[in-house]
Amino acid sequence: MGKTLASEQSSPHVPVLLAEVLAALQPLSGARIVDGTFGAGGYSRALLEAGASVIAIDRDPSVAPHVERLSADFPKTFEFIAGEFAALDQLVTQPVDGVVLDIGVSSMQLDEADRGFSFMREGPLDMRMSGEGDSAADLVNTLEEAELANLLFAYGEERKSRRIAHAVVAARGIEPITTTTQLARLIEKTIGRKPGDNHPATRSFQALRIAVNAEFDQLVEGLFASERLLDEGGRLAVVTFHSLEDRIAKRFFEPEKGGPAQSRHLPQTV
Ligand SMILES: C[S@@+](CC[C@H](N)C(=O)[O-])C[C@H]1O[C@@H](n2cnc3c(N)ncnc32)[C@H](O)[C@@H]1O
Repeated sequence: MGKTLASEQSSPHVPVLLAEVLAALQPLSGARIVDGTFGAGGYSRALLEAGASVIAIDRDPSVAPHVERLSADFPKTFEFIAGEFAALDQLVTQPVDGVVLDIGVSSMQLDEADRGFSFMREGPLDMRMSGEGDSAADLVNTLEEAELANLLFAYGEERKSRRIAHAVVAARGIEPITTTTQLARLIEKTIGRKPGDNHPATRSFQALRIAVNAEFDQLVEGLFASERLLDEGGRLAVVTFHSLEDRIAKRFFEPEKGGPAQSRHLPQTV
């Protein structure tokens, strides 16, 4: 990571690849930038400090305190819109000079036991970023065994997906699976745990979170929406966390693999 900005110290969430994102979106002074994944506002604050005006988007209502802080500090150059970045070209109507998407879950979401994102914290099996729609418990307790296995394999690359799905269906026949630790313990019992390896529920929890929040649909639509919203010469910076997201983003920047036929934006992988 590059140099630390003051903004990183005042934020509870340390923004990843901040220096790289700022460099990718240059020049920033006077630029109009969309931060499609506001979170704790680490990127937004740094962009505002660099002289850009920022329109921030997030679908999680719990970001409100961070929005209030930035609105107070930058009343003229900061605006927040609640919504999904898949629709960012409908939420923002005037062309912009840059868009940044920091894909995935925030550390605040993971740390809050009541949100149900973490298998390490006892909480309801929820995982909804927006608080709307089906929860992870809804999926785990209602999907057909084969559907559940496919979901765990496709979104979590879980090679033991069939054994886990079978155990889930047997367990929920006795009582519904409603908490994070209930599911984590069941997975551990089913596929075991090797010393030094990640927790055996890691991949299943990732898969459920992606499904609950339609994260891949959001990413694909968000990339094309960004392309439509960006002005001539505008920049798009995408920060991905795992290989599945990474593949979608890289593919977007390669026209022969389904990305924009004549992208006006230079693809760069950092
Ligand atoms: C990794 S965090 C972003 C952290 C942020 N860059 C910062 O510096 O604090 C991802 C954020 O994006 C939000 N998010 C994820 N998918 C979204 C979507 N499709 N539309 C809008 N917000 C989304 C999450 O609610 C979360 O707050």
